[in-house]
Amino acid sequence: MLKEKIEEILSGCRSVIEKAKTVLELYEAKVSYLGKSGALTALLKELKTAPPEERPTIGKALNDARVSLEALFAEREKVLAMKEREERIKAETLDVTLSKPERETGALNPATLVINEISSIFIGLGFTIVDGPEIELADNNFTKLNIPRDHPSRDMTDTFYISDEALLRTQTSTMQVRTMEKTKPPIRIICPGKVYRPDDDASHSPMFRQIEGLVVDKGVTLADLKGALDVFARSFFSPETKTRFRPSHFPFTEPSVEVDLTCPVCRGAGCRLCKGTGWIELMGAGVVNPAVLDMCGIDSGIYSGYAFGIGVERAAMVKFGIGDMRLLFDNDIRYLRQFR
Ligand code: PHE
Repeated sequence: MLKEKIEEILSGCRSVIEKAKTVLELYEAKVSYLGKSGALTALLKELKTAPPEERPTIGKALNDARVSLEALFAEREKVLAMKEREERIKAETLDVTLSKPERETGALNPATLVINEISSIFIGLGFTIVDGPEIELADNNFTKLNIPRDHPSRDMTDTFYISDEALLRTQTSTMQVRTMEKTKPPIRIICPGKVYRPDDDASHSPMFRQIEGLVVDKGVTLADLKGALDVFARSFFSPETKTRFRPSHFPFTEPSVEVDLTCPVCRGAGCRLCKGTGWIELMGAGVVNPAVLDMCGIDSGIYSGYAFGIGVERAAMVKFGIGDMRLLFDNDIRYLRQFR
């Protein structure tokens, strides 16, 4: 009797295992046959109703049935789990070949390209980049740079004032003051930034950019300035580029110079860009006036320095052959893309 029941359960369970389509279904079937109150377990409880001499063989048959069913469950589970895993991977796969809507990308303004390139040249010469405010005190923009009270650049027509004391900086030279006041020499910095002056015509914009340079250490001379600017001009334009110092005047440098470069277009022969002179004026520079060092808390008896101020828009126009400065301020993406 019991033996037949065992056979029945075995064949019933085998077909249920065969038909199970998911791991979950299989698990439920396993519980219903081999679980605590499962069909096979129930037979085990009936064992004591069997005649004692048959119990060992029936017990063994029951046990064999359990072992073989457990093996079948395990085998089928492997197959179903694998199948489910494959299906899940398939469902979650992303089609990376799908095309996406086109997105416009931007382009850097030539002035930004020039700032980046000049910065990396001076970083290579051991300079550090500093940044400072565009709204400044008249003290930092003029007084501590040795610019006298009655100097024309202080005039309302040449400076945007916010109040009697505050203004939009007219030059990045403010960063000479700020740096010297809080740093002990040796100092070696450049500061790219925006400056403002009330000019607006074909070759002047009320906002433009400069890159200030300042070196202060023991024994710094005009020759060091010339050496650094030669290296700069050769890396920024071409290895044949030469520099020329012309005497000039800035209250904060003494001596002061205008720095010219051989025209990168005609290489000195004379062309439209250099107005036939063969030279391009690119920056003001000079040896830091000892009065400025002292006003900024640096002992001019021990230290000396040089400074320069590069016109960024001018450098971009020369470097890329841009004829009209206003093109740099329009930020027309069709124009900017050419410089990518
Ligand atoms: N600040 C000067 C200008 O705006 C340039 C300059 C900088 C000159 C540093 C000498 C030294 O024209």
